[in-house]
Amino acid sequence: MDFEFSSSSSSDRRIGTLLRHLVGGSESLAMDPRSSVAASPTSGIAGGSVFAHLVQAPEDPILGVTVAYNKDPSPSKLNLGVGAYRTEDGKPLVLNVVRKAEQQIINDRSRVKEYLPIVGLAEFNKLSAKLILGADSPAIRENRVTTVQCLSGTGSLRVGAEFLAKHYHEKTIYIPVPTWGNHPKIFALAGLSVKTYRYYDPATRGLNFKGLLEDLGSASSGAIVLLHACAHNPTGVDPTVQQWEQIRQLLRSKGLMPFFDSAYQGFASGNLESDAQSIRMFVADGGECLVAQSFAKNMGLYGERVGALSIVCKAADVAGRVESQLKLVIRPMYSNPPIHGASIVAAILRDRNMFNEWTLELKAMADRIISMRKQLFDALRARGTPGDWSHIVKQIGMFTFTGLNTAQVSFMTKEYHIYMTSDGRISMAGLSSKTVPHLTEAIHAAVTRVA
Ligand code: LMR
Repeated sequence: MDFEFSSSSSSDRRIGTLLRHLVGGSESLAMDPRSSVAASPTSGIAGGSVFAHLVQAPEDPILGVTVAYNKDPSPSKLNLGVGAYRTEDGKPLVLNVVRKAEQQIINDRSRVKEYLPIVGLAEFNKLSAKLILGADSPAIRENRVTTVQCLSGTGSLRVGAEFLAKHYHEKTIYIPVPTWGNHPKIFALAGLSVKTYRYYDPATRGLNFKGLLEDLGSASSGAIVLLHACAHNPTGVDPTVQQWEQIRQLLRSKGLMPFFDSAYQGFASGNLESDAQSIRMFVADGGECLVAQSFAKNMGLYGERVGALSIVCKAADVAGRVESQLKLVIRPMYSNPPIHGASIVAAILRDRNMFNEWTLELKAMADRIISMRKQLFDALRARGTPGDWSHIVKQIGMFTFTGLNTAQVSFMTKEYHIYMTSDGRISMAGLSSKTVPHLTEAIHAAVTRVA
């Protein structure tokens, strides 16, 4: 390629040299494979890759566990990493009611594959808000809530975070320690400044309520606070109703903005109402909040990526303007959400019989997890494994935060082919009566042989 550039000024000369490098002109930098020069744009155009300088990124700390598990040929391998429900036979579960809803959708020849509106399926949004805020929610009655369909929990959190980063006066979000590994990334990439508040006490394997109140008590006024609505991930430790009330009073008195992540409604206790109680306390006081809602776990719609973001406002006209701005956030990100998962959810939530059937299946999943807690606790006690394992039955939801350290986790993976996140979290939903003895043996060996 010919490129002519001539100029007398030194800055123009520098630009000329740079341009010649970019187009691979005669003054191109020499290619030395050991130097970073090999990674210059020139090398890409000359034949090497412009991406050659990239280092191999690490696997995701949660989803990467499945990648490692899939590579393991051992017949006794057990995946307790990702939070995905498994049956007693260790198989993924598609709920009967979901199959029914899908059949109904397929049979309906009037259905088309047109684009949804930017905010998603209107009926899904309405029903999702009702499910999480309650059928009798004053905020819904007064049209003070705007709900947009998003890509499961992560997508809902991201849209909410982008919206806050753009339109909310405070750019700091406080997240609990520990929290789900994706939270800090979602908020930081949206442009919020991420700070932490104490949540978990390793000594009691319970809530550090004093630390939580102190940290949020000294948070900058107006800051955003991430709260897990129920079944805190990864610890399985939730505040009591009385503690929630104290948290509510503190947030409201300091003008802090609650941003709820609700990934387990109905999945924690088996009851849709009690698992939404924390959120409803904040909505009942007439104040504002954001709620990210996921149907991955409670309807088993993991890969359908179906969720919703609700923003509860103080007045209907504000909610309308908030929605108009959410559309501006969503449109350049993914334009509009997918139709299938939201249609399944809407079909189940709109029909009384299907809704009832869903609640039964949901309760069965929650009960199986609760029974796994009991079985594992009993087995460790019977085995005489050193330590107090009562937190296994006290914690709630999909995960047990075992207290096993990174070295013990690695040992269990290497010697027993048990896969879990390195922080010692295990997905109780991946366990079954058949695999409890194997896990018990592995935990026993880890705590007795690895410091
Ligand atoms: C988990 O915590 O295992 C789940 O929420 C899955 C995920 O995306 O991390």
